[in-house]
Amino acid sequence: MKILYVASECKGFIATGGLAEVAGSLPKAIMKKRRSYDVRVVLPLYKQIKEKFGNELVYLGHKYVNMPRENCYAGVFTYELDGVKYYFIDNEYFFKRDGSLYGHFDDGERFAFFSKAVLETLDIMDFYPNIIHTNDWHTALVNIYLDIYYKKHSYYTNIKSVFTIHNIEYQGVYGLDFNKNVMSIDPKYLSIVEYNGAINLVKGAIVTADLVTTVSPNYANEIKNDFFACGLASIINKNAHKLRGIINGIDVNFYNPKTDKAICPKYDAKTFEKKAKNKAKLQKMLGLEVNPDTCLISIISRLASHKGIDLVISRFHDIMRSNVQFVVLGTGDKYLENKFCEFAGNYPGRVSACITFNNELSRKIYAGSDVFLMPSKMEPCGLSQMIASRYGAVPIVRATGGLKDTIIDYGDDGNGFVFQDFNSFHMLDKVRQAADLYQNKEEFNKLAKKAMSVDFSWMVSALSYINEYEKLK
Ligand code: GLC
Repeated sequence: MKILYVASECKGFIATGGLAEVAGSLPKAIMKKRRSYDVRVVLPLYKQIKEKFGNELVYLGHKYVNMPRENCYAGVFTYELDGVKYYFIDNEYFFKRDGSLYGHFDDGERFAFFSKAVLETLDIMDFYPNIIHTNDWHTALVNIYLDIYYKKHSYYTNIKSVFTIHNIEYQGVYGLDFNKNVMSIDPKYLSIVEYNGAINLVKGAIVTADLVTTVSPNYANEIKNDFFACGLASIINKNAHKLRGIINGIDVNFYNPKTDKAICPKYDAKTFEKKAKNKAKLQKMLGLEVNPDTCLISIISRLASHKGIDLVISRFHDIMRSNVQFVVLGTGDKYLENKFCEFAGNYPGRVSACITFNNELSRKIYAGSDVFLMPSKMEPCGLSQMIASRYGAVPIVRATGGLKDTIIDYGDDGNGFVFQDFNSFHMLDKVRQAADLYQNKEEFNKLAKKAMSVDFSWMVSALSYINEYEKLK
């Protein structure tokens, strides 16, 4: 079985969020589970990748891709990392840019080009997949173009397509003139991508893909409801027969406190007592009082309101009435960033605000904190609650999306703390319950070790993907 996995970011090369974690670990996990599978990944050749890998990338060839504005150069490079073959689509105009990966005025055009170039350059890759698996709106046009145009050519006729929704909030919505200027789909097919008087790429991919997956069973149900589906509930419901929710795994080899180079001393559930050293070092590094008896709560998140950060802000002073310390790592809305900086000033030695993103620091924080707070309003899957568990930081989550599928409340003999409603007082109750339990070291450590022992690896979910791929054959 040959699968081409198409993504706009991928750990090991370029990462801004959860999608990169998945793209960087799922293909490997599938091939580990089934030796007969050949899963390869294709990405845009961003400036940052070129800078990092430079001459190590092998040039395979190029062609010109027909776009309404002009014929655009598409170079194809390849590179192998950890046994996975990667392809990169090169076009300096679209991808050699400073600043962030997304948020450019012409993102729609950049990713339309990328999507078309992927389909156009299979011959240069010399890879003829049985399945093309795309992710989120950036690559949705692969499913759409494949269905409308490419399947007509014998070369592509038997290719099936899978589309994964990592977050339905981002749909790739453009005005109708996007078709004339960028997509150039024959008007007779326009109803496939049109929705509510606009172009909606995620809608188009849902309609045209052979299989649609999302990143947890619970989120697959939630998006049948408009509150979660951000306007697409009717489309989801009409296509529910081909929708599956498969929970993400994490790369348990990378996120492993027993081998992680970012932390010292290393530990696992059997040597759990060594975690205390990591906590003391973290407290010192962040300028917090070095005190083993204070419960250290962490948040590692994009600072955005749908992550539930507002709840934390609104109850912050109440939280600080317990014997706790607080560390936040992340960037996002300026208002929220400033709020945490203000709190750090209000509570010297007790609160630390790290307004940055840094994977190495995040692992030190997972290893050094006792409790990990993730009160999301919506969370398709969420990876941090699993990573925190792996490092023995007990998660407190709201029961939504994948958080509900992965964390069970302590009261139900579970592996963390769970509150149901998106309500700051309900969150506060759970934070206090966790902080109180922390004072009973024996019970708390039992819970933390239990959190560590849950298997969040890809092994079960990789098999679910394999089963779904097999059904498409
Ligand atoms: C998105 C979702 C997150 C999920 C990740 C990987 O970032 O918001 O919940 O874990 O994708 O699928």
